[in-house]
Order: sequence, then C-alpha cells, then structure tokens
Amino acid sequence: MNPEKLREDFPIFQEREELVYLDSAATSQKPEQVINALQSFYSKNNANVGRGLYELAGDANKKFRESRKKVADFINARTDEIVFVNNTTEAVNLLAHSLELEGNIVVSEIAHHSEQLPWRRKAEEENLELEYIPTENGEFDMDAAEEIIDEETALVTISHVSNVTGSEHPLEEIVELAHRNDALVMVDGAQSVPRMKTDVKELDADFLVFSGHKMLGPTGIGVLYGKKDLLESMEPYKVGGGMIRSVKKDEVKYEEVPEKFEAGTPNVAGAVGLSAAIEHLENVGMKKIEKHDRKLCRKMKEGLSGIEGVKVLAPEEDTYVVSFTTDFAHPHDVAEILNQNSVAVRAGHHCTQPLMESLDISGTTRASPYLYNTEKDVEKLVEAVKEVKRTFS
Ligand code: ALA
Repeated sequence: MNPEKLREDFPIFQEREELVYLDSAATSQKPEQVINALQSFYSKNNANVGRGLYELAGDANKKFRESRKKVADFINARTDEIVFVNNTTEAVNLLAHSLELEGNIVVSEIAHHSEQLPWRRKAEEENLELEYIPTENGEFDMDAAEEIIDEETALVTISHVSNVTGSEHPLEEIVELAHRNDALVMVDGAQSVPRMKTDVKELDADFLVFSGHKMLGPTGIGVLYGKKDLLESMEPYKVGGGMIRSVKKDEVKYEEVPEKFEAGTPNVAGAVGLSAAIEHLENVGMKKIEKHDRKLCRKMKEGLSGIEGVKVLAPEEDTYVVSFTTDFAHPHDVAEILNQNSVAVRAGHHCTQPLMESLDISGTTRASPYLYNTEKDVEKLVEAVKEVKRTFS
C-alpha cells in the first residue's frame, strides 16, 4: 500500500498541502471518487425514491437499491438487513426506542456517549436495570464482563474498537457470553468498520451500527444492520411517508424491513456516496488498511513515548488511534500548538466522560490515522509534540 499515491485521490490534500490530518476517528477525508459519485447522482439521476413512476425515478431507485446491496455485501449481510439512518447515533437511538427488552442492559464504561446514552434513557424510562462493565486503566475488563453478563441480561452493547484508546475489544468472547445467556448484542462499529474487514455472519452480533462519514463517505448517512427476524419483530420509531403498505383512517399497515424503518425521503445521494466509498476501500483492500493504521499507530506510540512527560494510553497493544496526556500541557493547548504546525488532532473527552472519570483525567489528545497518512505525518506529529513541550517548559 502506497499512502503517498493514495493521497492523490483526496482533493483536500492538494488544497492544503501542509495539512497533516490525524483526526479520521472523528471524520475521514473524501476521495474524488466519492465527491464525483455525489455530483454525478445529482447531475444525472436525482429523483425521489419509492414513489415516482417515470424513468428518472427508476434510475434513482436503482442507484439506491444498488447502494444498499453494496453495503450489505461489504459486511456480508442480506440487503433487507440494512437500514439506512443518518449516523451511528441515530442507529442506536432507533434500536433503543424500538427494541422491546425484558431484563438488564449492560453497557461498558469505555463506550462513546452515543453508544450509552440511548440505552441509559431506555433503562430509566422503562425501569430496566443498567449495569456497567468497568475499565481497568482504560482497558475493557473481560473478567468483569463475565461476572456482570448473566441470565438477567437482555442486551449488551459494546464497541468493537474504542474511539479513545483505539484498542480492540474481545468481541467473539462477548457475543458468545451474551448469547449463552440469551442476551442480544449491539456492536458499535463506528471505529472498526472503516478499517477492519467486518463479517456480520462470522461476528454473529445481533445488531451492528456504523457511520458513512468515518469511512470516506459523506456525512448524513449511516447504517443499522440487524438480523432479519429481529428487525421484523421491532416497531418503527418514526412513521410517515415511504414506509407504509396502506393507511386507512382506523388502520395502518407498514412496509417490510428495511423500508419500515425509513420514513420520509431517505438520503439517497448519501447512500450512493457511501457505496462509492466502499468501492474505494475495497479497491485499496481492507486488510491493507487495517495493517497500515496499526503500523502508523505503533510508530506514533514509539515516537510519543520517547518524549519525557508524555503518557500514551494502551501503550502495549496494537491500536487504531493513539491517545495521550502530557505532564506539561492541557490537551487543548497541545492541540492548539499542533494546529499551529498544521497537525489536526482531536483533544478533550472524546464523548466518553465516564471513561475520563474512571481514568481521573479531563481529556486526552488523540491522533487517528487512515489510509492517506504517511510515516512523515507521524514524524511531524512527534516533532510538533516536542515543540509543545519546549513551549510549556
Ligand atoms: N465519534 C467521533 C470521535 O470519537 C466524533 O471523534
């Protein structure tokens, strides 16, 4: 894999030659293939879907159908198991609203707010018990999970990869443990699906949620995958046009899945853009991307750990993002000086305040690479952190 060459597909790096973009865990940059797919759709195929009988509407329907198929194939699902939503957050909210549960909900302390707040609200509103799997130095604690997940558990929610430490959680074991206790599992794939080959059949998770914009796609398009029988058993959380079979004054019959969950005009262009993004990722190769991201993270950790006063979270593990704190500057100051060196990173609590609380820190600085980052980018990051240290010492 040649990231120098791959960068050429991304107009932003031509517009901003100095930019060292290390915030892909927040959102990825977009290749021209995705930008062109959006432009082409709006220029040549735009019409509403599932409604018009004219030829152009047929073209738009076809594009939308093909996009859903592309997403389904990418994660080895059926097309009717793919619900288009706005983003991961909406997918979790949909599930928490529509899934009927009897029993406890288990979330992890390491979870992103979007992954835990919808379930917390559900537990509160429906009087269900909510249990937390704790973290040990910011790491998921599998021993604790084994104690907590039991026959009282109705649902376990777990991210595949943490958006803060970047470490991978033992999904296979968690899914097996949950299923052994007749509990459902929702996997937050926001950070993993963009960089790891994901096969929902192999994973056997009941639900998987992820966003298009973190995997080269446009903003405003995300995916809820659910096993078909589970999706069929759920009530839609929004109702309106495009999701009904028939409406009488005293009776409504809904469409089959997945349309049942897609009331209103869907983000057709977003789905087309996501399909182009997946094609791009597949052309590069998911295995290569995974290896590349891990390699750059290892290099970042080596470089950052060599600076006295820098503490890297999860230093021993292979990770997909690198979070660190320093004893010489607040994460926001670190990010500001990095910005002055054209290095873009995220700083703060990363929407994981319970995790920050357990680590007894207010935040971290986080660098997250993707396929367009080079070893030179890592060197610039490390040099810029050295400059932060000089500035504050
Ligand atoms: N969830 C995104 C992040 O962690 C926004 O940065």
